[in-house]
Amino acid sequence: MSSVVITGIGELTTNDPAREGLLGLVEDAAVVLDGDTVVWVGPASEAPAADTAYDAGGRAVIPGYVDSHSHLVFTGDRSREFAARMTGEPYSAGGIRTTVAATRAAGDEQLVSHVARLVAEMRAQGTTSLEIKSGYGLSVHDEARSLAVARHFTEDTTFLGAHVVPSGTTPEDYVDLVTGPMLTAAAPHARWIDVFCEDGAFDVDQARAILTAGSDHGLRGRLHANQLTYGAGVKLAAELGLVAVDHCTYLADDDVSALADSGTIATLLPGVEFSTRHPYPDARALLDAGVRVAIASDCNPGSCFTSSMALCIALAVREMRMSPAEALHAATATGAAALDRDDVGVIAPGKRADLVLLDAPSYLHLAYRPGVPLVAGVWQGGRPVV
Ligand code: NIG
Ligand code: FE
Repeated sequence: MSSVVITGIGELTTNDPAREGLLGLVEDAAVVLDGDTVVWVGPASEAPAADTAYDAGGRAVIPGYVDSHSHLVFTGDRSREFAARMTGEPYSAGGIRTTVAATRAAGDEQLVSHVARLVAEMRAQGTTSLEIKSGYGLSVHDEARSLAVARHFTEDTTFLGAHVVPSGTTPEDYVDLVTGPMLTAAAPHARWIDVFCEDGAFDVDQARAILTAGSDHGLRGRLHANQLTYGAGVKLAAELGLVAVDHCTYLADDDVSALADSGTIATLLPGVEFSTRHPYPDARALLDAGVRVAIASDCNPGSCFTSSMALCIALAVREMRMSPAEALHAATATGAAALDRDDVGVIAPGKRADLVLLDAPSYLHLAYRPGVPLVAGVWQGGRPVV
């Protein structure tokens, strides 16, 4: 294995809790990578020698983004649905069925190459870890196939057979399928199980039954909840002690206190509010109540087709009252926590060597320069990939 020393880092975000401040910033820093692992972090003046050296030229380095919520296994285009929303149509979960038809019709190779293109798009923008859900197959064959495709790209695959009830079946029969043969076929390819708990999708009793069945098959639960309306989904996630509950757009005070008590991470997806014109969730209220907040893209063809974590950070700062430091931490270290991962999201000895070099002197530019491509280099597992 060969080692690399990256010197001349003007500002390094480590997220290392052993260092000062939320981001554990180090100025005039160096990082040494050995194989796929970080082995040394500190002031450039004290950096040990390595096989090769790279000069960051005074620019900032941050941990690779951990995008803990995406729906990349699909084909088809719903840009007209987006355009209609921007001129007054409300977002409807019913659009999911349009993507289901296109995805079922796609060949395996077409599906793999579509996901590969999106994963490459994410990587070029600094995402080095991601979760991928199924949910556009909604048959035993197509859900298992979607997860097998997702597994080519990440260990964090999530079975979302309970995305919406497909045409031609009843909700009761479909929940029986999801908790029976579909779960059996999906479980070998998945680490997590998720339910879209919302009016027009699945109610809390159905969500509880599906998550319980998943747990019996060794899958850990996560939940889409309180995206379009107030409801009991967030409280269910807290009651079940899930690692994370995602969306959290419509929260009552007792939802916030339930999350604070349970320690369940609230994963906020501001690209969805951008693309559906719903109000942004109140990250400030969650943080002030002691709730841990992650930010993810929710990249999907319907409610939010962005793969840009930098855009999500800028929206979180501008629209959700997060500080730039809180937003970056939420998109990296807390994203990792939302996947129960302790090997990524932090730049410290022993962690995976996932780093992003910014064409900027500080991480502050992520929100200060919205829409500007600032990624100048990416190391993923120690390999330069951008
Ligand atoms: O996370 N909310 C449910 N699922 C996706 C949207 C799916 C779609 O519209 O295709 C989401 O927003
Ligand atoms: Fe989602």
